[in-house]
Amino acid sequence: MIIGDGRVLVTGGAGFIGSHLVDALLAKGADVVVFDDLSSGSWKNLEHHKGNRRLQMVEGDILDYKAVTAVSQGARFVFHMATRNVRLSLQSPTVVHDVNTTGTLNVLKAAAGCRVERFLYCSSSEVNGTADIVPMPEDYHFKPETIYGASKLTGEYYAEVFHRAGWLDVVIARPHNNYGPREHYEGVKGEVIPRFILWALAGKPPVIFGDGAQTRDFTYVTETADYLIRLVECDAAMGRTFNVCRGEEVSVAVIARKISELIGLSSPPVHVDGRPSDVLRLFGDASRLRETLGDSPAIGIEEGLRMTINWFRENVSPTPETLASMEPANWSTGSAEPWLSTARRRIRN
Ligand SMILES: NC(=O)c1ccc[n+]([C@@H]2O[C@H](COP(=O)([O-])OP(=O)(O)OC[C@H]3O[C@@H](n4cnc5c(N)ncnc54)[C@H](O)[C@@H]3O)[C@@H](O)[C@H]2O)c1
Repeated sequence: MIIGDGRVLVTGGAGFIGSHLVDALLAKGADVVVFDDLSSGSWKNLEHHKGNRRLQMVEGDILDYKAVTAVSQGARFVFHMATRNVRLSLQSPTVVHDVNTTGTLNVLKAAAGCRVERFLYCSSSEVNGTADIVPMPEDYHFKPETIYGASKLTGEYYAEVFHRAGWLDVVIARPHNNYGPREHYEGVKGEVIPRFILWALAGKPPVIFGDGAQTRDFTYVTETADYLIRLVECDAAMGRTFNVCRGEEVSVAVIARKISELIGLSSPPVHVDGRPSDVLRLFGDASRLRETLGDSPAIGIEEGLRMTINWFRENVSPTPETLASMEPANWSTGSAEPWLSTARRRIRN
């Protein structure tokens, strides 16, 4: 099945990965409806499509079932990308739970009720928790470390039920860490690579949480968008779960060093306390993706970092305001749910 002239709903399409997915879908000739509450996304991420009548942008919340149903009418394909993020879940687990589980159930129900042909649930490698088998296969024994990871896993289970019940053809994609143009750097949304880049462009050292030995499997974002589309188009992918990753383990310390080298910064990194509930080792097995689609993401970390640095140089100035929006411990800004301040923290050994 080819996504060509069909109508496609993208929840969270104003976000980082979602906006690249919208770029790729429009390039394929699809009519795209983006449904987004702009809690972390922005219409700015889609402003280069201004005037394109094949793109409709609707502001709304996936917790509003009526609104989700309205935008699902007539859609042949749904890509469910909307989410609240991992760092927010350390301070505000309830909102993250609500959006990622109840919100996902709403999007699934609306799609099934509107007889959508194919549904992609965008999960996350965070469902796994710290790896004790590497590379991590899809049928890993999940041990999420955060409410974010657990809520993304709940979304997977709901999506599987809809497929098994015969209500929807569903594929589950489990991207690993993405990076590239439009990635968030500000506040609680800020991710490691753009923060290191902007600090380096301002002549400041990267701030590493802990020793920097924690690893991730970094994928360039345009590749993820392409694989999400190819999974929805693939008959053999229906009812199955796929890691969308390169299968290469890279530590945060190595990322800091490479960015400093590419930008020409000589100051050594600054190490601060580790982030609570940080996953320490995470890299995926991409063989199921390769066996099913014939290949897997191929852009190497150096090439991807070069392209990302170029985009940030051209699009985001490391002004004092930009730097002020990147507090080092960006998971602990804002107010936490009251019970968290009194909860006992068990020491891990
Ligand atoms: N960025 C990564 O490295 C990564 C890795 C693995 C998985 N993922 C998954 O990819 C998807 C996209 O993530 P992203 O990195 O682009 O994040 P993002 O925060 O940029 O995008 C999420 C989008 O969802 C929207 N949204 C949030 N709550 C909503 C609600 N209640 N109703 C409607 N819209 C809502 C936000 O405004 C935003 O535009 C998510 O499902 C995430 O779990 C991301």
